[in-house]
Amino acid sequence: MGRPDPHSHFDTDQPRVRRLHLTWTVDFEAKRLTGSVVLDLAAPGSGALDLDTKGLDVKAVRTAAGEACRFELGDDDAILGRRLRLQLPAGTPSVVIDYATSPEAVALQWLTPAMTEGKKHPFLFSQCQAIHARTVVPVQDSPAVRVSYAAEVTVPEALAAVMSAGPSGVRPGKTPGTRTWLFEMPQPIPPYLLALAVGDLKSKDLSPRSRVWAEPATVDKAAWEFADIEKMIVKAEGLFGPYEWERYDMLVLPPAFPYGGMENPRMTFLTPTLLAGDRSLVDVVAHELAHSWTGNLVTNSTMEHFWLNEGTTVYAERRIQEALHGEAAAVLSWAIGQTALDQELERFGPSSPLTCLRMNLKGIDPDDAFSSVPYEKGARLWALVERTAGRERFDKVLREYIAAFRFTSITSDDWLRFIDEKLPGVTAKVDAKAWLDSPGVPANAPVFRSKALEDLTALAEGFRPGARPAKEQIAAWKPSEMLIYLQHLPREMDGKACDWLEKNLALTGRGNYELLVEWLTIAVGSDYEPVFPRVREVLTRVGRMKYLRPLYSALGRHARTRALAAEIFAAASPGYHALSRRVVESVMQKYPR
Ligand code: BES
Ligand code: ZN
Repeated sequence: MGRPDPHSHFDTDQPRVRRLHLTWTVDFEAKRLTGSVVLDLAAPGSGALDLDTKGLDVKAVRTAAGEACRFELGDDDAILGRRLRLQLPAGTPSVVIDYATSPEAVALQWLTPAMTEGKKHPFLFSQCQAIHARTVVPVQDSPAVRVSYAAEVTVPEALAAVMSAGPSGVRPGKTPGTRTWLFEMPQPIPPYLLALAVGDLKSKDLSPRSRVWAEPATVDKAAWEFADIEKMIVKAEGLFGPYEWERYDMLVLPPAFPYGGMENPRMTFLTPTLLAGDRSLVDVVAHELAHSWTGNLVTNSTMEHFWLNEGTTVYAERRIQEALHGEAAAVLSWAIGQTALDQELERFGPSSPLTCLRMNLKGIDPDDAFSSVPYEKGARLWALVERTAGRERFDKVLREYIAAFRFTSITSDDWLRFIDEKLPGVTAKVDAKAWLDSPGVPANAPVFRSKALEDLTALAEGFRPGARPAKEQIAAWKPSEMLIYLQHLPREMDGKACDWLEKNLALTGRGNYELLVEWLTIAVGSDYEPVFPRVREVLTRVGRMKYLRPLYSALGRHARTRALAAEIFAAASPGYHALSRRVVESVMQKYPR
């Protein structure tokens, strides 16, 4: 069959890697991981084995028996990196590669002590999704190739290491002043779920199978925010079947982390911007937890079918939310998602192929294709199937889907075939092919409504003509309701209107970043000077792309906010993740000159 994944050199005609043994020393000075990986093959192999690498310094390759192995690095491709072709002697069961990562490895962000809460120790975290695992280890970096792994990670003695794996011990390192942390991930995972973080970390138990890790200054706040995690896991198990990963631990990272959350198995990575102090942002945890079934158990076989990961997970997340907090709460989340979807359709344009669920990504960097479309359009396709089949029938099929494809990686066609078999006629009735292969959102998309939602949007739409919510009304709003109100306000308003919002909603000082950033986006888009210091503070501290994009976009509207953006970016960008920097640069390139 050859190469099924446009983002990998993985070749189905070659041997398949089944397990990794990683030995890394974390060198904060050089910003490198140095060490080796042993690749165990599914069966003894011979001849060519193509691996993905990016920026790796490959030093030596030998068979497990110690026989030198010929290798050759191909040309550097801006998206794919370099193919590492090994020539395996006949009957090779495993190979050892000595190598080091590059200080520019996209998957790794090295934080100086100043960029941490404690300010005393450096911090390292990885983010391998979508195709950055190849910047930390030579592998067949396609989600179709699942691997289990073991790791030995040597770090400075004062620091702790966590991985997307079970901990299996700590021992003194060979070099004085170091410790070696051992990990074991017995279940096969796609390479993008390989994850490591190293820092001054403490943990607190939340339930027998869950604890939260964070810097010492943050861990108590994090434990409070996520205290109800066990209830969430139990609800999810009721919906999707048994939790298969033994532990569900979480790591709260420093604010430079570029995403809201990342579903690294056994160790979800989370942005500290979720610590609102009122548990109002735990839906992100529901999302990452849901990936334990939809994504980590059932994975997209390539990024062209990313909606199978994210769309399914958004659907699952809202089902968890509904089970915990009722239908009204879930409807509000669907509405918040609708706004995100509408914005992306506008950003890409109505006929962009990047608004199809099934994409052709040959020559396209998955980071550039990333948007809310696979999330929200994908979730709506699942909701439509649910409504068409009826919930009871559907829920059984959803559990069967997870059970049928657990620990595999699938395509949109596998999905279609399965739904067709279990719910005959439904994919035709909803025209699932149009959902997959036509841009935009089909007219039969499910609508989510409630009286509360209609009142909020009507109130916001009356803002220009002078309608204002009453004090008692504002006081009774849940954070999600206030967010919907803000999302439906005009994007630009006069100073008096901004004054009114500032005075009555008191948003500038908020700890809920969803509300804060929505407000700041309106305020800077309105050239409202009183928020400028807070905008500077947020953009300097926080690296989450979801917040950088709208804020820098809104700063592009007026000449003096454009100057402010340039000034903030110059000062803050050394602390941004490489991916965040790229997003901001692309936004700023579109500024009028
Ligand atoms: N897996 C994603 C994050 C991701 C996607 C990283 C693609 C790299 C490439 C994660 O599950 C996610 O979707 N996070 C969201 C939160 C969620 C509630 C929509 C985020 O980071 O905002
Ligand atoms: Zn996700």
